[in-house]
Amino acid sequence: MTAQLIDGKAIAAQVRQQVARQLETRHADGKRTPGLAVVLVGDDPASRIYVNNKHRDCEQAGIRSFLHLLPAETSQQALETLVDELNADPRVDGILVQLPLPDHLDARPILEHILPHKDVDGFHPYNLGRLAQRLPMLRPCTPKGVMTLLQASGLKVRGLDATVVGASNIVGRPMALELMLAGCTTTVCHRFTRNLEEHVRRAELLVVAVGNPGLVKGEWVREGAIVIDVGINREEDGRLVGDVDFTSAAERAAWITPVPGGVGPMTIASLLENTLIAAEMHDA
Ligand code: GUN
Repeated sequence: MTAQLIDGKAIAAQVRQQVARQLETRHADGKRTPGLAVVLVGDDPASRIYVNNKHRDCEQAGIRSFLHLLPAETSQQALETLVDELNADPRVDGILVQLPLPDHLDARPILEHILPHKDVDGFHPYNLGRLAQRLPMLRPCTPKGVMTLLQASGLKVRGLDATVVGASNIVGRPMALELMLAGCTTTVCHRFTRNLEEHVRRAELLVVAVGNPGLVKGEWVREGAIVIDVGINREEDGRLVGDVDFTSAAERAAWITPVPGGVGPMTIASLLENTLIAAEMHDA
């Protein structure tokens, strides 16, 4: 392997420490403890693990966490009513509704129901619109975490040819915006892209967020590229792997994120940062 590893675990720990220090300063200034409400509908095991981790990391950093575990058959109306209550609750600075929701629920109106100033996921059209206009307020956590990884590794991205593979609302699309705003010439690949390999080969900075193990072959990776793998896929033997074939990609890349321990830990670190930003806005 020739690539340098981008250690998301270590960088996320630094971010968490920084948040904890800022929380201590708030405390010393007599400000209240920020609160995050996390809502999970149903019993999807992966979502349950994510939500528990969010709860644990909040408590460790010094953020109050209000966990709402709702049955799978919760109605649209009941969920919107809960969001209304959380919007009105002065102890709650941030609201996160874990996705995906069960099939009978429509996520869009629920996400739009969250007050933009409490939307710590950054999924509300208000927050995405602000990001698109270079007026970021609460930025989607995973793309924000990728930008933190790049910055913390001392990597300058202005002017780079970047390719983002995947165009989801949660990662790909806001990721492309972040990179464009950071000065990259950004290509977005999606299910209708005709020649994925060609776009990957051109990338000096490659971000892959599809959820398809081994989608990107190592030999497609440009020599000296920065490779950010957002995918987290569980193999039949229980191993976690990304969307990029790690071993062969690491022979060509200059920098690469491992899976696990790359982008994964950064999502929660960004969530803690966003909760603090939301609390500061509410104090102002
Ligand atoms: N499901 C997968 N990633 C996320 C995320 O960042 N936020 C929420 N709310 N749900 C998710």
